[in-house]
Amino acid sequence: MLQGKPRVGVFGVGRMGRIHVENLVRLHLENRIELAGLGDRYAPALDSTTALVKLLAGSELSQHLQKFSCPQTMAEENRLDAVVVASRIADHFQDVLAFARHKVPVLVEKPIMATVGQAAELVDALGHENTGGIQVGFQRHHDPAARAASEWYRQGLIGELQHSHHVIQDKNPPPAGYLSGGITADMAVHLVFESMSFHGFELPRWVQALRFCAPHYEDRAQEGANIVHVFLTWDDGSMAHLWGSRLNATGYDNGFKLIGTAGRIDVGEFVGDFGSIQAKLWQGTGSGPVARGTLVESLEFPMTKPASHHPDFYARYAVAFADELIAFLHQVQQREPFELGIDVGWKTILVANLADMSALNQGQRIELRLDGAPISSVQHAAEFARKIGLE
Ligand SMILES: NC(=O)c1ccc[n+]([C@@H]2O[C@H](COP(=O)([O-])OP(=O)(O)OC[C@H]3O[C@@H](n4cnc5c(N)ncnc54)[C@H](O)[C@@H]3O)[C@@H](O)[C@H]2O)c1
Repeated sequence: MLQGKPRVGVFGVGRMGRIHVENLVRLHLENRIELAGLGDRYAPALDSTTALVKLLAGSELSQHLQKFSCPQTMAEENRLDAVVVASRIADHFQDVLAFARHKVPVLVEKPIMATVGQAAELVDALGHENTGGIQVGFQRHHDPAARAASEWYRQGLIGELQHSHHVIQDKNPPPAGYLSGGITADMAVHLVFESMSFHGFELPRWVQALRFCAPHYEDRAQEGANIVHVFLTWDDGSMAHLWGSRLNATGYDNGFKLIGTAGRIDVGEFVGDFGSIQAKLWQGTGSGPVARGTLVESLEFPMTKPASHHPDFYARYAVAFADELIAFLHQVQQREPFELGIDVGWKTILVANLADMSALNQGQRIELRLDGAPISSVQHAAEFARKIGLE
């Protein structure tokens, strides 16, 4: 177990990094950690985040913090016990490697890397036995409504999963200057993660996707699309439909439905820009003691009121972002493995990149098999990606 308060830093303090900084400031003020450093290649982001720290905690902390423009220097000089990496996706590889090489545990924002080839390179550079210090930031895993639903599912309350439906709709296009990794790899990767989590992170057998560009939209991130539909099919025939869009000006829409042989679960029906998040368990299928379509349990979880400096995705997932960080730091202090480690990272970026590839090829159906065999390791996945021309 780690002795004393962990020294924690953040590298990459744009929209998402600042949310992590704000949560770390709170933990610092509660005397649970020491916020020790901030890093960013982009000086204006470092300045505005330092100003945010001053606003939240006063000038003593903002002046005391060490600032870095280079991840290697931060890894060498900041003496960190843990770091959050929330830089641009294209920089995740070099940033994660810089800290992991110095054995600093890393919480890296989704997706883990830009490609599965980079994930394989990271594993090669570190050695497989040294990749246990990496957690991927999929905050949906920590969303209280999703956790309630996962627990119902885990207890077998909806029977065997037949199909699932996952939604993410943004209120606004990404801001100017945002570098996207592709509409699925950047946004709908949350849905890839969520759907795979109900399959024990087994890779699907088939990936197929279609993308569209609906009008009245400013494509500031130059993704070439604002809607994507992805279809994942597993070996047993069960499937997931993922619906991502950057077009929903009336509010941020996130939810999922799990349909099983004995019931269904609905999480996060659209409630406008601000409302409570619902999780519902339904049972009764026309046979057995429960009447068909009975609402067995219904839970409500509040959203969090945003402040003016928060990005538009804050209200829905503020609790999850805070819980994700606490879970990460808990594992760091206990020196225990992370739940969402490198395997979840490479599998989700592989599937997301395949979906983007399929969508660019008019919905080509891609089978995840290398020489007829299932893909069993990150190196195997990288070889598969090269073979089908993904890298
Ligand atoms: N979990 C979530 O819901 C969620 C939400 C948003 C972003 N993210 C992830 O967080 C990471 C960072 O995303 P973000 O939204 O914070 O992106 P961002 O563009 O706000 O910041 C990312 C990095 O780019 C830098 N940057 C910003 N504008 C720049 C400019 N004009 N020139 C040079 N550098 C610039 C920032 O300083 C920062 O280091 C990504 O991995 C993204 O996928 C996750």
